[in-house]
Amino acid sequence: MTTPRILLFDSGMGGLTVARAVRQQLPGAHLTYSADNAGFPYGAWKEDALTKRIVMVIGELIARTEPHLVVIACNTASTIALAQLREAYHLPFVGTVPAIKPAAAQTKSGIIGVLATPGTVSREYTHSLIHTYAYHCKVFLHGAKRLAEIAELKLKGRAVDPDELKEEIGPVFRRRDGKRTDVVVLGCTHYPLLIEDMQKVQPWPVSYIDPAPAIARRVADVLDETPLRDAAHSVPPHGTVILTSNRGSAAESLSAYAAMGFPAPEFIDLPV
Ligand code: DGL
Repeated sequence: MTTPRILLFDSGMGGLTVARAVRQQLPGAHLTYSADNAGFPYGAWKEDALTKRIVMVIGELIARTEPHLVVIACNTASTIALAQLREAYHLPFVGTVPAIKPAAAQTKSGIIGVLATPGTVSREYTHSLIHTYAYHCKVFLHGAKRLAEIAELKLKGRAVDPDELKEEIGPVFRRRDGKRTDVVVLGCTHYPLLIEDMQKVQPWPVSYIDPAPAIARRVADVLDETPLRDAAHSVPPHGTVILTSNRGSAAESLSAYAAMGFPAPEFIDLPV
């Protein structure tokens, strides 16, 4: 029987939170992680340029890894490029978009915070999720400029600065008519890496929604309906991390990837 090959993609290390959940859900699957570290962070890119880049990079990665399914483990990429990717490449894609629907079902106060990158916050896709699923709630969206980078630094072993973190998450903690935010959506796959740190500086306790387990369940469901063909060429072994640049802090990053289950690095040079 052919082992399912899954390619997980993010701009950086955030998708590792999704990879962790996929590994738990499908322990026998062949996983390859890929990070467009040459393009990181995605949060401030212009939409057109970013869409083109994602479609190009994913094309290279599909050719190299011949996956049965691709997980776009990045909200910033999913909210602009999923449709184009599905059009360009005929294989199943599972994306990650802010978990507004579960947040609206869970909130008791009716006040929801959404933390995401500036890109995700500005997307039509995100606003339409709010209009569809949380029209009866007050939703405070915040485009956090530095959170994804803070999460990467943490994975590389650096200390998180509590004051900076507090400032980054502060805007989603709001009060209205005697009520306050009780659910915070983590709308960037990097942010679950910081949940414990956020809990230390949050103004009051809230539930944080990490969509990774739900994405992993979706991956399993889609795979069930996907024919599994053998690869035509030799593909990187399970546990490979493919990076688009060998720049600067690569060595530090490599130990972080190894610690999260991806000890075998490979580089395909795709400069911005
Ligand atoms: N991890 C990504 C996301 O889910 C983006 C981080 C970034 O590149 O700024 O949105």
